[in-house]
Amino acid sequence: MKKEIIRKFAALAACFAVCAGTSCGKVERPDDKENVTVSGNDSATADASATTADGSSENQSELLTIPITTDENTSQAATSAGTEELPVSGQPAEDTSSYTASGGDSPQTTSGAAVPSQTVTGTGSSQTASGTASGSQVTDISLTFYEVTLPVGASKMPMVTMSPSTAENKDEIWTSSDEKIATVDSLGNIKAVGEGICIITVKSADNPAVSASVQVTVEAAKEPAVADGVTYIEGILIANKTYALPASYNPGGLTNECYSAFMNLVSGAAADNINIYCSSGFRSYESQQYIYNNYVAMDGQAKADTYSARPGHSEHQTGLAIDCNIIDDSFTGTPEAIWLENNCHKYGFIIRYPRNKDHITGYKYEPWHIRYLGVEKATAVYNSGLCLEEYLGITSQYTY
Ligand code: DAL
Ligand code: ZN
Repeated sequence: MKKEIIRKFAALAACFAVCAGTSCGKVERPDDKENVTVSGNDSATADASATTADGSSENQSELLTIPITTDENTSQAATSAGTEELPVSGQPAEDTSSYTASGGDSPQTTSGAAVPSQTVTGTGSSQTASGTASGSQVTDISLTFYEVTLPVGASKMPMVTMSPSTAENKDEIWTSSDEKIATVDSLGNIKAVGEGICIITVKSADNPAVSASVQVTVEAAKEPAVADGVTYIEGILIANKTYALPASYNPGGLTNECYSAFMNLVSGAAADNINIYCSSGFRSYESQQYIYNNYVAMDGQAKADTYSARPGHSEHQTGLAIDCNIIDDSFTGTPEAIWLENNCHKYGFIIRYPRNKDHITGYKYEPWHIRYLGVEKATAVYNSGLCLEEYLGITSQYTY
């Protein structure tokens, strides 16, 4: 018990030491030298040539931002830091599932009022066949949602359950009542095309009398606002492959609001016996350039672009993003990763690069990378089941 309290305190102290004032991104690498001293009461020197998770010896530039206050954290950081963008050799690649959504389409604005193309009564629903099906036929279809609101350009796919489970043919037939408003592909991926309301229906190929439907409301894509070269959409600062930050954009570290929210998150996690700590916070344009160039040299640009942002495109430059704990694929599925996924929105953060969204976010799954949006927006994004690009109806694609 005592040890647990000490451990929790150590975790809090680690984040405080690192995130407050000078660290968790507030320490700037002056010259990209290999050894970096992390300042604070519990200062330590991190060896920048530490061995990475895949066994290679890499320049550990991200060690700049590592809390080094406990043996536990030091050991974790020393083996994982700097590997945020490094897929661990031999691990199955995340998010290699085939892409069903064309999330790369540009946001578009359609004219016309938001009127249903047909008389839409009530919401989506499930229609059960009445006594016509034989024992092996589908008699019911249920969906994970029956209503959805999407901005133009966004996609979402309900999960389908056909009953009984013993039914031999569970093939799905998907249709849209108005393809000018939303389309649907053969897998049920719904894509918002133009403003309005329509109904997406799935029928059983085996027993077409059985169907379920989703009422889809499509809203105009949110308009970006640009101030001093920084793009905001609905007040959310955007840094992704489409929207870059000026090289000069430098909040000097995590913003106070983000830092404070992270401290609350760490405390909330500790109350659940989960140890969350900051492994990488703010990174300047120059730091990101250094990191990215290393990865390109190691893996080639095409691969590096799947896990490391080009300079000017990293959320770490915003002072609103934090990499927690172990920054490699071994973090996936850990109690800490699961806790973050289920709880970080309560503290104002989202998992910025969720699983199976890499074709939309532009990056492989990063369960450790959280982005501060504030509780209200983070909760809305979390509840939507969408990644930030989908939620806002924007792209994440390089044009160069
Ligand atoms: N790993 C994320 C995408 C970054 O480099 O900012
Ligand atoms: Zn990150």
